[in-house]
Amino acid sequence: MRILLYRGDGVVEPWVREFAAVMPEAEAIAWKEGEVLAPCDYAVLWNPAPALLEQLTHVKAIFLMGAGVDALLKFGETLPAVPLIRLGDAGMGVQMAEYVAHAVLRYFRRFDEYEQQARHGAWNPLPLYPKEEFTIGVMGLGKLGMPVVDAMRLFGFPVRGWSRTPKDLPGVECYFGMEGLDDFLHGTRVLVCMLPLTQETANLLDRHKLGKLQPGAYLINVSRGAIVAEPDLMALIRSGHIAGATLDVFRHEPLPAPHPFWNEPRINITPHISALTMRHEAVRQIADKIDALENGEPVGDLVDRNLGY
Ligand code: NAP
Ligand code: GLV
Repeated sequence: MRILLYRGDGVVEPWVREFAAVMPEAEAIAWKEGEVLAPCDYAVLWNPAPALLEQLTHVKAIFLMGAGVDALLKFGETLPAVPLIRLGDAGMGVQMAEYVAHAVLRYFRRFDEYEQQARHGAWNPLPLYPKEEFTIGVMGLGKLGMPVVDAMRLFGFPVRGWSRTPKDLPGVECYFGMEGLDDFLHGTRVLVCMLPLTQETANLLDRHKLGKLQPGAYLINVSRGAIVAEPDLMALIRSGHIAGATLDVFRHEPLPAPHPFWNEPRINITPHISALTMRHEAVRQIADKIDALENGEPVGDLVDRNLGY
């Protein structure tokens, strides 16, 4: 069996080594722009080059080295008509829970304000926020949204969730569909965006939707930047309606130097690191899925091209 490995950032050798260790019976090969691709059984990709996709017509399935599929689905009809399979958690869920817990606690325990105070040598204990008024609203209740929900419940926050299809989750107020969105936003103090970027979610969080949040609300975006209308968020932060945002993802990455977010102290920026792909976990998961496919068994995390996730 031959497995093609490709990453747009060129860092493919560690993946070749990991596949050799986990699937010694398979031959893992890399491809470079301009080369003619040898016939392969499977492809494992991240940010593929268009010239590579043209040559992938004979693979049995394409695996992704991450959870998000927007960068692959943008190729539309030019994608080979084979199953597309993304990572399902593979060590990313706990990282999302860590990242969101850090951001939520920073706001809830007012560490953001104490950081400001300390810069000015101020010693001023602030009252605690009532926890029952600090509702965490998680948009996207999938493989990565659920560990966030569980972590927030563990801390005792009121938690609500929003998804495309209805859900019944113990201890979580569940909303779904566009018809449930305004009610979901209305009672939310900290909005956590864990949605995939699709035609339905692009620019979803604009001034109208963000404006439905409680005054003094916070936004944590850990999924994709293009879900948020960035100028609208900036305006709502300047007006004080949104008290602060923790953003790991942006419409253009790296976030360009002149972007106004860089100079807004109420916005915390990280460079798309909220959940990094863990190579060992990822390769083990892909190896198990290849094994299942070879044995004619069903695999999870198949991408639905119509839904876009
Ligand atoms: P997932 O398991 O596919 O879950 C997606 C969730 O979003 C599901 O609950 C789904 O609803 C919901 N959803 C999708 N479209 C919706 C819509 N139109 N309206 C309402 N809800 C909708 O995905 P995941 O593995 O949790 O990953 C989520 C995203 O995280 C990825 O797509 C990726 O963009 C991002 N991500 C970011 C990083 C980072 O480091 N920043 C790392 C990994 C992933 P249903 O349950 O009803 O289907
Ligand atoms: C990272 O952003 C991923 O989608 O895995």
